[in-house]
Amino acid sequence: MSRPPFAGAVVCITGASSGIGAELARQCAVQGARLALAARDTARLEAVAAECRALGAEALVVRTDVAVEADCRAMLDAVIARYGRLDMLVNNAGVGASGPFRDITDLGLFDRVMRVNFLGSVYCTSYAMPHLVASRGRLVAVSSLTGLAGVPKRTAYGATKHAMAGFFDSLRIELDGTGVSVTVAYPGFVFSEINAHALGPDGQPWGERGYKRRPGETMATDKCARLILGAAAARDRDVVMTWRGKVGRVLKLVAPSLVDRLAKRAIDGKQ
Ligand SMILES: NC(=O)c1ccc[n+]([C@@H]2O[C@H](COP(=O)([O-])OP(=O)(O)OC[C@H]3O[C@@H](n4cnc5c(N)ncnc54)[C@H](OP(=O)(O)O)[C@@H]3O)[C@@H](O)[C@H]2O)c1
Repeated sequence: MSRPPFAGAVVCITGASSGIGAELARQCAVQGARLALAARDTARLEAVAAECRALGAEALVVRTDVAVEADCRAMLDAVIARYGRLDMLVNNAGVGASGPFRDITDLGLFDRVMRVNFLGSVYCTSYAMPHLVASRGRLVAVSSLTGLAGVPKRTAYGATKHAMAGFFDSLRIELDGTGVSVTVAYPGFVFSEINAHALGPDGQPWGERGYKRRPGETMATDKCARLILGAAAARDRDVVMTWRGKVGRVLKLVAPSLVDRLAKRAIDGKQ
């Protein structure tokens, strides 16, 4: 049997305390990766780390608020102090924001969401860069279908995900010839805690909002994580996760207003 792609690899995952990030950690653990798990909630990170250790992996927990540049620098320092190298950074930490733009009363939410989703990725990537170049490693970013097309009630969140796409697509070209690959993941709806923590128009977490994601339109975290790791292992430039996303990407070139209508329909009945 062939060796799993991440066996022995040092893999750092931000936002590893829940959802997609926690599942990425577990799947890397099964492959025998050496893990660094970053997020703010250390109790939850320790629980994920314990699961990973039970699966036979090494796991380091580093409390990190990715919105704070010094935290990102200290986190990468801790990874190198522990393992001496870095083979893959997964920029996964993220926070949602929803509601119509005209209802937004706290414009500071744009700053907060941009700081976590976009600047957090920039900070971690910057401090990881020399180590990834040394290992000819892999850089992964978890964007969203909202990073490929406009989506109503997601002006702030969509802007951060478009910013991530622009940053990582540009960086990929700069890194040509270094051996470092850049993979951007574009999930659609995925079962996770993102809605429960998403910021509402007043800048406060909105909490559960009375709508349930439908299984038919929502991907399980294990499938999402498998697709991300498969694309990263293959050093693919990106992975668009749903047929809607794949068709929409092509349609946007020829019929952008049709894609607008599809995006509107996908969000109808949701906040
Ligand atoms: N679920 C979806 O439908 C969906 C679709 C497309 C893309 N995505 C993207 O997938 C990624 C993972 O989200 P998820 O769906 O798994 O949601 P989730 O369950 O809410 O997980 C979000 C993770 O990000 C961490 N995080 C939030 N703010 C942070 C900060 N300031 N510093 C460090 N870590 C922070 C959280 O940990 P702490 O609270 O412990 O810090 C948590 O581990 C996000 O980038 C999200 O935008 C999700």
